[in-house]
Amino acid sequence: PEAEIGLIGLGVMGSNLALNIAENASTIAVANRTTEKVDAFHAEAGALKDRIVPCRSLEALVGAIRAPRPIIIMTKAGAAVDEQIAALRPLLQAGDIIIDAGNANFHDTVRRSKELEDSGLTFIGMGVSGGEEGARHGPSIMVGGTAEAYQRVEPMLKAIAARFEGEPCVAHLGADGAGHFVKTIHNGIEYADMQMIAEIYGIMRDGLGMAPAEMADIFARWNEGPLNSYLIDVTAKTLAAKDAETGGALVDQILDSAGQKGTGRWAAIEAQMIGVAATTIESAVAARILSAMKAEREAAEQVFGPIELLDASIDRAGIIDQLEQALLAAKIAAYAQGFAVMAGASADHGWDLPLATIARIWRAGCIIRSQFLDEIAATFEAESGTANLLVTPRFSAMMRDSSVGLRKIVALSATSGIPTPALSAALAYYDTYRQARGTANLIQAQRDFFGAHGFERLDGSGPHHGQWNA
Ligand code: 6PG
Repeated sequence: PEAEIGLIGLGVMGSNLALNIAENASTIAVANRTTEKVDAFHAEAGALKDRIVPCRSLEALVGAIRAPRPIIIMTKAGAAVDEQIAALRPLLQAGDIIIDAGNANFHDTVRRSKELEDSGLTFIGMGVSGGEEGARHGPSIMVGGTAEAYQRVEPMLKAIAARFEGEPCVAHLGADGAGHFVKTIHNGIEYADMQMIAEIYGIMRDGLGMAPAEMADIFARWNEGPLNSYLIDVTAKTLAAKDAETGGALVDQILDSAGQKGTGRWAAIEAQMIGVAATTIESAVAARILSAMKAEREAAEQVFGPIELLDASIDRAGIIDQLEQALLAAKIAAYAQGFAVMAGASADHGWDLPLATIARIWRAGCIIRSQFLDEIAATFEAESGTANLLVTPRFSAMMRDSSVGLRKIVALSATSGIPTPALSAALAYYDTYRQARGTANLIQAQRDFFGAHGFERLDGSGPHHGQWNA
């Protein structure tokens, strides 16, 4: 056998990952359900052709890899993965490693790990982020599985992962579903980041009447400051792009209806299941759902009328500065929620997720990569037991400053009717989290009134009931 690793599934992500492995790690055997794709992929591999072994069947693939064989499955998440595993199993030997590198639901990864437990085979659930470009030149890699399994693939993964100041963006995060779970939360944060940016864009477009090119310059400027990140850079570039047909901004020609493959939604669902408030992530998921209801929104605008531009005399430069602050504050809230969900999952699933390490491997390669994550990593390193990012010295200081802008922007949007669901949720989360005396005493009274649920008294003297009808 000539190859040290195999890969099944030559879609965009699979092809790019295979090229990355061929270039930076080892000779790789590849297979695909439709075999024409295998030949085409090999024919187009250029200088890497000799490092790729095209295989026309799973038998050929397994035969081409030196045992013990690591085999990456990079197909659509769901039933296709189970089918591939079932087809591979009879061909493999004890010690071989199946690696699911797709966007799997971590519950499936836990189940698959269990199913393979007594087979002698090893299963790794691996979250890979970074889109096409990342897969080809260095993704961020989140690994779930046994420590021994990780050790065996670590050198290969380190060779293909993105690097932040020389440090490879890959880590073993815990058993079975830990890697896919962390990827899911990454995507929840990705949804929140994207939604919050889109809301800022909405204020610029519908409140200030700005043109995309003008906004592009502002996002490009923000990318030099504390908001510096891949998604801000992408935003500046997409806003600047021209449409070949009309000559205008391309973004103006795109239907305002966003799809989702599921991972962002899973993040919100898991947050709810674990019982951690992740309202900014939830509202980002809900906003995508509402975005897809184009016809209903058009009908509703007929009923209620359109929103109007802000008064032309408004202090535009001041608002632009507040928008930057608002985005920063809301980002802190969204990341605080995402990391709180991961901390909660550690308790629920027994993973002991290493929060500082997760922030470190997200600093490069992945979609949410940013300077900001370097600060989160440093914060979790310094304060390992922290309850919430919001209250750490570094982020509480940032929040105190930037929340002023967030408050002004949410207020402005509310009075002018510009929707800011994720930004508003971030502000509400912050205000709720920092209020020592909340209002749930009334909820407890109501629950006791209609359901005799009982309540705790402030003096801690055990469970009580009210004499509500006395
Ligand atoms: C990444 C991305 C990538 C993809 C997701 C989200 O980290 O590289 O998250 O995995 O963008 O599938 O896609 P949807 O927006 O379609 O849910």
